[in-house]
Amino acid sequence: MNNNRRPLVLANWKMNMEPQEVGPYLDTILPEVEKDTDADVAVAGQDLYLAQMVAKVKGSQLAIAAQDAHWEDQGAFTGETSPKALSTIGVSYVMIGHFERRKFFNETDERVNLKTKAALKNGLKPIVDLDEDLSAYDGQAIDQVELSQLKKALTGISEEEMKDVTIAYEPTWAIGSGEAASAEQAEKSAALIRASLANLYNQDLANQTRILYGGSVNTSNAASFFKQADIDGILVGKAALNPQTFLDLIDIAQQA
Ligand code: 13P
Repeated sequence: MNNNRRPLVLANWKMNMEPQEVGPYLDTILPEVEKDTDADVAVAGQDLYLAQMVAKVKGSQLAIAAQDAHWEDQGAFTGETSPKALSTIGVSYVMIGHFERRKFFNETDERVNLKTKAALKNGLKPIVDLDEDLSAYDGQAIDQVELSQLKKALTGISEEEMKDVTIAYEPTWAIGSGEAASAEQAEKSAALIRASLANLYNQDLANQTRILYGGSVNTSNAASFFKQADIDGILVGKAALNPQTFLDLIDIAQQA
């Protein structure tokens, strides 16, 4: 982590959490998030909970994120979620291009780019996810996959707009497997992403952009990621389903 960049701790609930668990979860973490403001904290819930979540955290430091959004503001797109509507109800962040969207819902780099632009246009802060395929896990190939995803995702996005963009690096093989990347592996990729941002834009912009690591983050390994120069936060799935564990992860970020 670098002091010029504010850490971000993001819980991705995915398609989890019962309706009756949403309020108590937020009640558990809200008072703690208020105490410390050394890190940004956000929770990404299922769409049907977002309005309730936004209402609950109103006036607090806790931000709410969506897990995806369409690239059009409105129209005949049955089952999709409008980025404009998300922004109107008070959602702050939107994840775009998560590995599970790419794998199960045919998300393409082109759509990730359209969705990132649409999010920015609507005042949402996109968290652009780069994954890496296990089949390509042999050094060079990984770099190529994630860098090509990065370049395509950011096509046509201005330097000014990049101030609101966070990049998340999530190795496919580490997601939900219980086997996180080592801090060194993750740092290598984050540094590479930062170097690419410097190439695509400039060094200043690269230095300002937040890069998260995600994939089997837990309370035992989280601190090791924050120790890395180019990792500015964590994107947490399973471990964040327990509010107490998520609180512990927030604490680790505050102390980093
Ligand atoms: P896990 O923390 O469950 O591996 O999930 C990571 C992830 O996909 C977060 O977006």
